[in-house]
Amino acid sequence: QKLPGSYLFSEIARRVTVYSSEHPEAKLIKLGIGDVTRPLVPAVIDALHKAVDEMGQAETFRGYGPEQGYDFLRNAVAKYDYASRGVAIEPDEIFISDGAKSDCGNIGDLFSVDNKVAVCDPVYTVYVDTNAMSGRAGEYDTEKGGWSNIYYMPTVAENGFVPALPTEKVDVIYLCSPNNPTGTVLNKDQLKVWVDYANANDAIILFDAAYEAFIVEDNIPHSIYEVEGAKTCAIEFRSYSKTAGFTGTRCGFTIVPKALERKGVSLNAMWNRRQTTKFNGTAYIIQRAAEAVYTEEGQKQVRENIAYYQKNAQVIKDGLAKAGLEVYGAVNSPYVWAKTPDGMPSWDFFDLLLDKANVVTTPGAGFGPHGEGYIRLTAFGDAGLTVEAVDRVAKLLKG
Ligand code: MLT
Repeated sequence: QKLPGSYLFSEIARRVTVYSSEHPEAKLIKLGIGDVTRPLVPAVIDALHKAVDEMGQAETFRGYGPEQGYDFLRNAVAKYDYASRGVAIEPDEIFISDGAKSDCGNIGDLFSVDNKVAVCDPVYTVYVDTNAMSGRAGEYDTEKGGWSNIYYMPTVAENGFVPALPTEKVDVIYLCSPNNPTGTVLNKDQLKVWVDYANANDAIILFDAAYEAFIVEDNIPHSIYEVEGAKTCAIEFRSYSKTAGFTGTRCGFTIVPKALERKGVSLNAMWNRRQTTKFNGTAYIIQRAAEAVYTEEGQKQVRENIAYYQKNAQVIKDGLAKAGLEVYGAVNSPYVWAKTPDGMPSWDFFDLLLDKANVVTTPGAGFGPHGEGYIRLTAFGDAGLTVEAVDRVAKLLKG
């Protein structure tokens, strides 16, 4: 009841639908929601077909699977996502799910209503809204655009998009790197500051690494567990959505280390208890599809798609910078975060781009008070249309 309005991306979809019905001739290019557009790769499609056939035969049919995920996928995650980077994660610390969004919301079941939550501002809205749904956010202040019981950490150009440590006691800290929405990253030293802080203050870091596949620079951790001490303070969320184009296929996983305890209670055991109670596991055929991402062919094919999107990110970044906008992100991320011209409010710039360039973006203000004055564009579109969208925006800004 306290949640204002609608979920950000539903509101954008609503505005776009209204605009399209009033301007049926408009050829909209959508660089708003970060939804992939390249089809699933052949290795994944082959695995899906094979698994579907297995489900149609009595000998290979499967009913309920393990709530935590099948061993074949947990073992693959441990080997290819972690051991390959020198991080030892045990299969029973890995919980397969239907995606990072669900887990980022569901994880709130482990915390009490009076736990204080800290988020970066701007922020992936799911972190905040799900805490509001769990009764942890307090009251919504329409004027400030924030919740009374959420600790907001501004991450803006002025501080290099690195949040400052909290000045009051917080219990739960959401960090996202590569960041949604700013497209910026935290390096190893910057993350170490947070890990040390969390360990010293009994706080828990919820680390969202959904975009790790886009990291190209050295010294940017793909996992928080690359940072010493993280296993006693951090939970990590991963997803196949952006890595392998699974936004509509749905699969991800959450790491809850066995070393993570608070007041003598294992969070791994708590999450296991939560999952076995409320979740019956991710579909077998989908887990087989995810497993195929780790094969040699699968890796080669998904890397090609990621490279395709990375090129789009560069096109957007360069094009907007050339058109005079201040631009961030895009290097280790599929997101480009740009300052609006002359400090224009971000919903106004969103409407202007929709109306005059027929380009759909995401207004920064939708991600929190400190997102005001920015817009976000995604690199997940078609390459040709991305070039055209950037041209249209550049012409509008010059004209
Ligand atoms: C976004 O556009 O921020 C993402 O697509 C949202 C999500 O991954 O849930």
